Amino acid sequence: MAFDDVIIIGSGIAALTAAEKLATDRNVIIFTKSKRTVSNSFHAQGGIAAAVDQGDTWEEHLKDTEVAGCQHSDLENLQMLMKKAPKHLFDLAGRGLEFDRNKNGEWNLGREGGHLKRRILHAGGDATGKALMTFMLKQIKSKVTILEDEMVIDLIVRNQHCIGIKTKTSAGNVINHFAGATILATGGCGQLYAYTSNDSTITGDGIAMAFRAGVQLVDMEFVQFHPTLLFDGINTIGLVSEAVRGEGAYLVNDSNRRIMESVHKQKDLAPRDIVARTIFKERAHGKNVYLNISNVKNFSDRFPSISRMCVESGIDLEGNLLPVTPGAHFMMGGVKADTSGQTSLSGLYAVGETACTGVHGANRVASNSLLEGIVFGNMTAESILNQNNPVVEESIAAKKSGIPVNLPAKETIKQRMMRDVGVVRGKRGLRKMIQWLGQYRFSGVDLDGLSVDEVERINMMTTAWLITTSAWKRKESRGAHYRSDYPTSNGIEKRQEIVRQKESELV
Ligand code: SIN
Repeated sequence: MAFDDVIIIGSGIAALTAAEKLATDRNVIIFTKSKRTVSNSFHAQGGIAAAVDQGDTWEEHLKDTEVAGCQHSDLENLQMLMKKAPKHLFDLAGRGLEFDRNKNGEWNLGREGGHLKRRILHAGGDATGKALMTFMLKQIKSKVTILEDEMVIDLIVRNQHCIGIKTKTSAGNVINHFAGATILATGGCGQLYAYTSNDSTITGDGIAMAFRAGVQLVDMEFVQFHPTLLFDGINTIGLVSEAVRGEGAYLVNDSNRRIMESVHKQKDLAPRDIVARTIFKERAHGKNVYLNISNVKNFSDRFPSISRMCVESGIDLEGNLLPVTPGAHFMMGGVKADTSGQTSLSGLYAVGETACTGVHGANRVASNSLLEGIVFGNMTAESILNQNNPVVEESIAAKKSGIPVNLPAKETIKQRMMRDVGVVRGKRGLRKMIQWLGQYRFSGVDLDGLSVDEVERINMMTTAWLITTSAWKRKESRGAHYRSDYPTSNGIEKRQEIVRQKESELV
């Protein structure tokens, strides 16, 4: 048994930002089921959006975010994010984070889908995440303990208060850790889908454990599919950043037709959901889709990581055509939280992609996610620092063995989610998925005796069920949630809240 002031679950940008500030006055411990450098934040190619240019304003940034989010954003929370964004980026730069500059020495601001202005800061070309995370890991070194290879399997709740977590070590032992405040920062759930840009560790763990603890979730039907994942005809290989289209690349099909020309006035830089659906439809009609990069100046210098990925996959950059397909990228819904990370459960905070503050609406605009982690990570830490969070001790014995579970393979879950709850959803597919999930028992299972892989599969099934049933209930199309049987918006902006009522609801 161990006692800490603040426990943070996950090691992405939201986690490290909160950790840095909290460490000024609290004992902080970060748990990651993998290594500290393994996170979606670390791999982020795009950049960080903020109205830092003199010709730009936070109001314009807000407007673009709101439009891309299909009028589904929480405007108060969004205003907070947009107003605070520039200050945080100036602060990071002032502390030594080097953003890319043009030959005049000014910040080289990029454009990405949904943004009407150039307002995206990058570092290391297409390796912003790596630069930012390396910088942040340096800041917290020697101030924060990071426990690697220890998976958090559940939250510990007593008297409607989160008092800590239960973990599984790599040796298979179950340990209870207690804290005055616990922060969920586990990212989203991209690995629920066969095609995804997400790291292999992103299996919906935080969302599933919050749900098991009875914490309120919201907007789970809104899963964003990034339009351009490099594709070898069978598998997706990795992300081709929207910044590539920001520098002039455009989408064509086998017949060399520019597929975005007549679809949206922003053409290849239309919001992601629109571009992803256009590619999906082309592919459904048997066409391959390519990103034509012939207009991008000095492609290999501007996008070194993407170039390396292409070369390693046997794609000749001289040919200027990168084969692409959409894949799961970002969860707009999640654990309902305010801008200070407070969830519906006292003692429990959620920040970053795990959380849903409503800022992204029904479709996140490019490069607002690292930003959210930075701004709300800071605000969450400030809020915890302003409170007195006493540590509550409990004696809980771990159960040595559990009942073996009969769960499908991860790949089966991913293929089914991609087919039936993917870019385009319909009544038949959703019903099929709900029936299929219903054959398995993944609720009310004692996790102590299970392996990490089994707990991940339970989390994937739980999150898949939450997405599918939410998608079933939303009988309209809005942003990333597109229903072939209800292809238009119903004009009602209502959020869908989910709270666990009974175990029997789940299966
Ligand atoms: C991208 O580089 O296209 C992804 C960045 C993001 O999701 O914000």
